[in-house]
Amino acid sequence: MTLLYEGKAKRVFNTEKENILRIEYKDEVTAGNGAKKDEMTGKGRLNNLITSKIFGILQTRDIESHFVEKLSDTEQLVKAVEIFPLEVVVRNVAAGSICKRLGFEKGHQFEKPLLELFYKKDELNDPLITDDHVELLNIATTEQLEVIKNKALQVNTVLSEIMEEMNLLLVDFKIEFGYTADGEILLADEISPDTCRIWDKDTHENFDKDVYREDTGSLIDTYETFYNKLEEL
Ligand code: C5P
Repeated sequence: MTLLYEGKAKRVFNTEKENILRIEYKDEVTAGNGAKKDEMTGKGRLNNLITSKIFGILQTRDIESHFVEKLSDTEQLVKAVEIFPLEVVVRNVAAGSICKRLGFEKGHQFEKPLLELFYKKDELNDPLITDDHVELLNIATTEQLEVIKNKALQVNTVLSEIMEEMNLLLVDFKIEFGYTADGEILLADEISPDTCRIWDKDTHENFDKDVYREDTGSLIDTYETFYNKLEEL
């Protein structure tokens, strides 16, 4: 089958079925827009298993995504969508770039979820943008952006509940959206410890890619522990 796209963490292939694609999760780990890069056996498997499980749970809570089914440990079938070049970040607690940008102390609890939009453009280092920029750059229409923002906040509610059940805290996450041939807007890409910040509720120990970004532990052990907790739900 034809390789349609290869990114840092995934390969996308077409299939014999119309509008259905196969995603293969890779073992490559990157941080800082590719500045730090490693190969870690088992990483693709864990992110595929975790994303498949989370998209499955979201579906039971009426949040549709591109996810169709898990094919194997490292592959899944998804609906074909055109991805909006937009990274939608929702933050419950301050960590990462918002601390550097706006001076929040790490761990500061926001009164309500904070939604930020970043333009997905490697050459520009994915800059933070406003709603007006989204319109100006023809990234999405005002109506599409409204749908995207509402869905992102719904994902935050459900994901936060899932983490709470695991005695974990959903600090922040990044999601992406796409639209199908008939214009339906769907949650796409992945939801995994690569794209979320997840802390132990009591100790604030990380269950996410910060262990790799900050060199504080084994990424594979951390993701495996998280996956086992998720499987117990
Ligand atoms: O770096 P920053 O604090 O803005 O990241 C916010 C959230 O978005 C984190 O959970 C991070 O893992 C995720 N993120 C991502 N991909 C990016 C940038 C951020 O998954 N390119």
